[in-house]
Amino acid sequence: MKIFLDTANLESIKKFNDMGLVDGITTNPTLLSKEKGDPEEIMGEIVRTVKGPISLEVISTDFEGMMAEGRRLSKYGKNVVVKIPMTAEGLKAVSALKLEQIRTNVTLIFSANQALLAAKAGASYVSPFIGRLDDIGEIGMDIVRDIVTIFKNYDFDCEVLVASVRHPLHVIDAAKLGAHVVTLPPDVLAKMIAHPLTDIGLARFLDDWKKVSSSSSAPRLTVPR
Ligand code: G3P
Repeated sequence: MKIFLDTANLESIKKFNDMGLVDGITTNPTLLSKEKGDPEEIMGEIVRTVKGPISLEVISTDFEGMMAEGRRLSKYGKNVVVKIPMTAEGLKAVSALKLEQIRTNVTLIFSANQALLAAKAGASYVSPFIGRLDDIGEIGMDIVRDIVTIFKNYDFDCEVLVASVRHPLHVIDAAKLGAHVVTLPPDVLAKMIAHPLTDIGLARFLDDWKKVSSSSSAPRLTVPR
């Protein structure tokens, strides 16, 4: 399963990218509004920092506006995927952008039917927002299960990108269902790395080592001749 980071924060992107964990990035207007600095420059820097797909979202809601923005955003780099909202105008833009070899990620998906239509229109990714469904008392992961099944049944050339992820259990559930991608806020990825037993175990190893090696903090290796 691919892991994308759902952020426009360059510090977090660089930190996790250096660990080899980041297959791509998703941004949106809300995430960009949280960062200091010119959004255009931030988007350019993200595209240069991470080699994988970078979703940059349009602000327009009409077909012509989305086309113009999609073409402009795609110029940031070959790895750009244009993020388009799940609307009738959006589907039209997805279909037209595909003809221009511009990849799209259809966002704000809240049902399997929406995902099916986005895939038929030619999207490269669909983004079901599972946390927001959980928020209103529905089970977000249920639509991921349905979408994965539908895409497999018809061999759609479209990846299921699980978005609005709130905690590490969402990641396990998405992985068990065979979703292609999860996009994670940096704090969720940090939580996946940490485990209290790892910390306790490491502290014990270091304490025990101190008992046998008071003069050195690092193991002294004897190389066999
Ligand atoms: O990728 C979509 C994501 O940014 C939305 O997350 O937590 O605002 O529902 P959230």
